[in-house]
Amino acid sequence: MKITLNATPLAQIETDVLVLIVYSKEEGSGLHGTSAPEIDRATGGWITEIMGRGEFTGKAMETALLHRPAGLKAQRLLLVGGGKKEKFNAAELRKAAGTAVRQMKTKGAASMALVLGSALGTASMVEAATEGAILGDWEPDKHKTDPKKNGAKPVESLLLAVQKEDLALGEAIIRGTILAEGQNFTRDLVNEPANLLTPATLVAAAQKLETSGLECEILDRARMQQLGMGSLLGVAQGSVEPPYLIVLRYKPERALGSAHLALVGKGVTFDTGGISIKPSEGMEKMKYDMAGAAAVLGAMKAIAQLKPSIPVSAFAPCVENMASGTAQRPGDIVKTLNGKTVEVLNTDAEGRLILIDALTYAIRQGCTHLVDAATLTGAIAVALAHIHVGLFSNNDDLSQRISAAARAEGEKMWPMPLDDDYKDYLKSAVADIPNISGGRYGGAITAAKFLEEFVEEKPWVHLDIAGTAWLDDGKAWMAKGPSGVGVRTFVRLALDWN
Ligand code: BES
Ligand code: MN
Ligand code: ZN
Repeated sequence: MKITLNATPLAQIETDVLVLIVYSKEEGSGLHGTSAPEIDRATGGWITEIMGRGEFTGKAMETALLHRPAGLKAQRLLLVGGGKKEKFNAAELRKAAGTAVRQMKTKGAASMALVLGSALGTASMVEAATEGAILGDWEPDKHKTDPKKNGAKPVESLLLAVQKEDLALGEAIIRGTILAEGQNFTRDLVNEPANLLTPATLVAAAQKLETSGLECEILDRARMQQLGMGSLLGVAQGSVEPPYLIVLRYKPERALGSAHLALVGKGVTFDTGGISIKPSEGMEKMKYDMAGAAAVLGAMKAIAQLKPSIPVSAFAPCVENMASGTAQRPGDIVKTLNGKTVEVLNTDAEGRLILIDALTYAIRQGCTHLVDAATLTGAIAVALAHIHVGLFSNNDDLSQRISAAARAEGEKMWPMPLDDDYKDYLKSAVADIPNISGGRYGGAITAAKFLEEFVEEKPWVHLDIAGTAWLDDGKAWMAKGPSGVGVRTFVRLALDWN
C-alpha cells in the first residue's frame, strides 16, 4: 500500500473513498469531528441527517457509507465512528484506519483518502494511521489457491489528508510503515503451519534479515551441546527437527550509554506437549507457540531500519516439542547452561526450559537488560483473557519503560505480581528447581518465577503473550489469526531508550 500526504481541499480529493472520522454526538452540541462540519455542508447535511435519525451515532468503529456524494470529487464517503472525542487518541485512530481499510477492501476500493485535518495532523497520529491501514490490510490467506475468493483486494493507495504538509509528517509515514511491516512479517511467520515452518525455516528467515544491517549467528545442536544448554536440548530431543538458537545483533554507529538490550522470544514451532501430551482439541493452534520468536525477529527487522541508539540483540531458541521414542520423559533431570539442575515434571512446560538457556546466553553475551516474549501459559488467558499481555518484572524502571512503550503503541499490557512468596511453589526434592509448581493456581506467575531464577538479577521483563498472540475472532480493524503483538512495543522501547 502506497501511503502519501497531501493538503488538497477535501472536496477536491479524487479517490475511491474519502474516510472521515466522526465522534459521537453529545447532548445539545453540534457535529464533532475534524472537518466534519465542512463535509456535512458539502454533502448538503448528510451527516447531520443520518445522525439525526440515529442511523449513525459515531460510536467507536461504527461505519456508514454514502455513494456519489454531491459536492465531493470522491466517489464514496465513509464515516467511521470515533467514539467520545475526549477519549480519542492514537490507538483509536490506528483502529479507525484499519477499520476503514477492512470495510472497503471487499468493496472494490483501490484508493482511499483519510481525513486528518489539523487536529489529527500530528506526527504521532500520522504514524498511527499508517500503521492501522497496513495492519488492517493483512490477511491470513496466503495458502488459499484463490485468495480473491473472499472478494477482498488489497488497497493500493492511501492518502492522508492533512491541513499542512511538513517533513516530520513524511517521516512519520516512513516510521509507521516500517513498524507495521515488521509486525506483518511476524504475523506471516506465526500464521505458517508447523509442517511448513520448522526451526530451520525460522533460521532461514533470520538469515534473510542479515542484509538489513543486522548480524546473524546460528547456534546448532553441536554448539549448544558444547556450551551445555541441556535444558533447551532436552525439549528438542523428541523431534526429528533439529533445534537452533538464533542470534541477531544490531549495533548502533554511536551508542549512547552502556545499556545493551536483549529481546528473547520463545520459538516452539509446534507444541504437542511432549510425553505430557496435550488433548487433541485445539491442538492445531499450537503452531503459534513460536509467536515470541517471530515477534523479536519482526522487531529486529524494524530496528535495523529505524536505527535506535541502543545496541539490541535478539535471541530466539527454536525447537519442536514432539512426543516420540526419543522424547524427554516426566521426571528427567536436565542441567541448564547456568549450571542449575531442573526436574522436568511436565514436558508441556517446555517454553520456560528453552527460554532459560537463551536468557543465560544473552547475559553471557553482555546484555544488561532482558525482555522476553513467550506464549508461555494458558493461565495468563485465565487471568487477563485475550485483552492484555501479562507483564512480569523484577525491575521498576524497565517495567515502566516497557509500559510506556506499549501505551504509546496501543498494545495493552498489565502488570502481574512476582513476589517471593510464589517461589515456595517451586520445590524439587531431587534437583535445584522443578519446571512446574505442585498446584494449578497462579500458573502464569509460577512460570515467570521459574524464569526469574535464571536472570541473575539483571533488570528483566517477561511478557506472557499466550492469550494475545492469536485472535480467535477477527476485529473490525484486524483479521483473525496472528496479532503480531509485541513488535511495536519492542521497537518503541529501543527508539525511546535514552
Ligand atoms: N504453549 C503452551 C501455552 C499456551 C497455551 C500457549 C494456550 C497458547 C495457548 C505452553 O507450553 C504450555 O503448554 N503451558 C502449560 C503449562 C503447564 C504444563 C504448567 C499450560 O499452560 O497448560
Ligand atoms: Mn507446552
Ligand atoms: Zn508451549
